[in-house]
Amino acid sequence: MELTHIEHLGIAVKSLEEAIPYYENVLGLKCYAIEEVTDQKVRTAFFKIGQTKLELLEPTCPESTIAGFIEKRGEGIHHMAFAVADGVANALAEVEGKGIRLIDKAPRRGAEGLDIAFLHPKSTQGVLTELCEKGK
Ligand code: CO
Repeated sequence: MELTHIEHLGIAVKSLEEAIPYYENVLGLKCYAIEEVTDQKVRTAFFKIGQTKLELLEPTCPESTIAGFIEKRGEGIHHMAFAVADGVANALAEVEGKGIRLIDKAPRRGAEGLDIAFLHPKSTQGVLTELCEKGK
């Protein structure tokens, strides 16, 4: 498996409207897109720093996993996403072969048309880890 860069960090926030001004007015970044990902029950706001994005995640309902995360641990970094060069499905097969527990057995479609899959934080020292690649 070849990882090329940190594609994004996912940050759980209670409210995009409250969080965006910090990133724009204090850090000087520009929110370039807001997208709702209905099957993950989140609204996302995107910022870019070099090749890496920040993805703010706001729950759209109490059943959202992001709502559960904020309830349990408060707002903060939710996951780290690596860009893989040679296919998410290949990478999943490889890490599973090395005994890593998977959340997603197969890639699914995430925000911005990426193919994504999550590894279980129990197998990754507590860091919810996403592998992603631009969808084809
Ligand atoms: Co993500």
